[in-house]
Amino acid sequence: MTVLVTGGAGFIGQHLARRLVAAGADVLALDLLLPQVHADPDRAVEAFPGRVAVGDVADEAAWGDLPGGIEAVVHLAAETGTGQSMYEVERYHRVNVEGTRLAAGFAAARGLPLLSLSSRAVYGEGRYGCPEHGTTFGGRCCGRAAPAASREDDPHHPVSVYGETKSLAEAAAVEAAAGAVPLTVVRPQNVVGPGQALHNPYTGVLAAFLAMLREGRALTVYGDGHQTRDLVHVSDLVALLAWALEHQPPPGEPRILNCGSGVRTTLVELAEAAISGAPVRSPGVTHVDVHRAGDIDHACADLDRLRELGAPEPRWGAHDAVADFIRRSWDRPGAGAAAWDAALDELARRGLTS
Ligand SMILES: NC(=O)c1ccc[n+]([C@@H]2O[C@H](COP(=O)([O-])OP(=O)(O)OC[C@H]3O[C@@H](n4cnc5c(N)ncnc54)[C@H](O)[C@@H]3O)[C@@H](O)[C@H]2O)c1
Ligand SMILES: [Zn+2]
Repeated sequence: MTVLVTGGAGFIGQHLARRLVAAGADVLALDLLLPQVHADPDRAVEAFPGRVAVGDVADEAAWGDLPGGIEAVVHLAAETGTGQSMYEVERYHRVNVEGTRLAAGFAAARGLPLLSLSSRAVYGEGRYGCPEHGTTFGGRCCGRAAPAASREDDPHHPVSVYGETKSLAEAAAVEAAAGAVPLTVVRPQNVVGPGQALHNPYTGVLAAFLAMLREGRALTVYGDGHQTRDLVHVSDLVALLAWALEHQPPPGEPRILNCGSGVRTTLVELAEAAISGAPVRSPGVTHVDVHRAGDIDHACADLDRLRELGAPEPRWGAHDAVADFIRRSWDRPGAGAAAWDAALDELARRGLTS
């Protein structure tokens, strides 16, 4: 089987491609090799275990140039910076929404199953449970409300342009593909693992922690650090994607799947896990009293649907996944911590912090 992987040269794409090839498939990437993601694009191409077609998923011509013989499409290519999306609005819409529409149109025209990556960002603040007000979505109703895990059928309440584009992209995929071909949409929580972009200061709190640890700096946590995230190891995500390729829903019945560990971890716990993976002593954690537009307080995936379907469940816990990432990334080139400071300054200059 030949699988087209858009964004295949990126973090998740490289892991997925290796897994598919190990299982006997051929892979072809369609990737623009964005400089923001790839400090060394040649290395990314060499690392990919198949051919890389360089092209823009939001450009119709790039799809027309693809060879025949493709049997499934995995659509990963996207602009992924939450903060950056708040001012690069048009670019994020073009790549994430138009790119997904074209991916789905390509799959539908060639009769190919489509597996498209969305994000937990579509939920925004997600689900809350309150003894007084019951279940609410998109924010706390009152002080008694506690965050609860988001389910696939929950309403979308994105708070960032990135989340908005992912929500619109899901709708575009359903519109263009779902009636004609099998469609699976996966919404990962925060994915962690070796190979994630270390030069891109617009994403990745963990890449920032790595840079700070390497420079002997205290880890900067924005806010009080009680915010929670659901961390999923890239190998667990890729296991789910490989399973989804083998277990397609019928055409006309799009399948939406969460992907996470199902466990909440506070930012302070994440920082501590990062410190535990570092081969040097860290001065600890420091808090900066700032809120970035587009950031959410809490995120966690409900995994009931995965269990009902018999899909593979996550094997990694957040602490081990983060420590493993730090250990295995320690000697790899990456941006200095100042790059993340600059990204925050840029948001502040644009009035996107409070
Ligand atoms: N990493 C996470 O934590 C996470 C969480 C939720 C969802 N996702 C989604 O997973 C997918 C892959 O993310 P990743 O972490 O591997 O990101 P990444 O930045 O490492 O990889 C994305 C790849 O897409 C390519 N790309 C970007 N714009 C393109 C365009 N216009 N045309 C062709 N290629 C383009 C980039 O060059 C890069 O190789 C994305 O859709 C992202 O939104 C990621
Ligand atoms: Zn309430």
